[in-house]
Amino acid sequence: MLSKDFTQSLVILIVATVLVASFSIVVLIVPSLVRTDAIRVNSLAKPLTAVQVAGRDVYISEGCHVCHTQMVRNIEPEVKRDGRANKESDDIYEFPNLWGSKRTGPDLTNLGRKYSEQWQRIHLINPRQVVPTSLMPAYPWLFRQVLSGDEIEAKMRVLQTLGVPYTDDEIERARLQVKGLTKGEALIQYLQSLGQDTADDQER
Ligand code: HEC
Repeated sequence: MLSKDFTQSLVILIVATVLVASFSIVVLIVPSLVRTDAIRVNSLAKPLTAVQVAGRDVYISEGCHVCHTQMVRNIEPEVKRDGRANKESDDIYEFPNLWGSKRTGPDLTNLGRKYSEQWQRIHLINPRQVVPTSLMPAYPWLFRQVLSGDEIEAKMRVLQTLGVPYTDDEIERARLQVKGLTKGEALIQYLQSLGQDTADDQER
């Protein structure tokens, strides 16, 4: 009788779905929201600088996240290949996160100290110069287009509202730091920042 009701009553189906969904939210999502402060205190993650924020925007607008993930799962083959697995504290200042979902290219979570800025520049202008078999598109214009810095203050204010601890002073100085850099230079600063707290972790 019960099974008949369950499968045939729309109301029971909806109520049961809501119950199951809310249970998952309570168990999986609420604890990490409540613990945000503790996660911050224990984390070595630092907010991005103004130039790195500008570089991250280039990363998003060029669609780098379509081919690259920033999410090393805690399973042996991935850790061996891509380095330290992600921790929940890695993304406390990331809005939105750039985990990605497809790996045409390698995972970039721990990229920071792997190459020099010079290597990154050559690779972005023409990946085939350093990796002859590379399928990655070339981005030569990134080193011709110059950033005005006009929007950086507003972007950092939004991040501040979302909880990134920028001071008003840092935000006011942001424009001058970004203005005049090429998109490529800012992007490289962002790429070099990836996984920086990881390296510190390992030194400890
Ligand atoms: C069409 C897919 C694709 C897109 C889009 C793409 N890449 Fe790549 N990327 C690759 C592939 C494939 C490789 C591996 C071959 C190589 O090193 O060039 C790679 C390699 C890299 C590497 C070297 C990683 C390592 O650990 O050796 C970096 C850094 C990188 N990409 C950054 C970027 C950035 C920044 C962008 C956006 C401006 C971007 N990629 C866009 C496919 C892509």
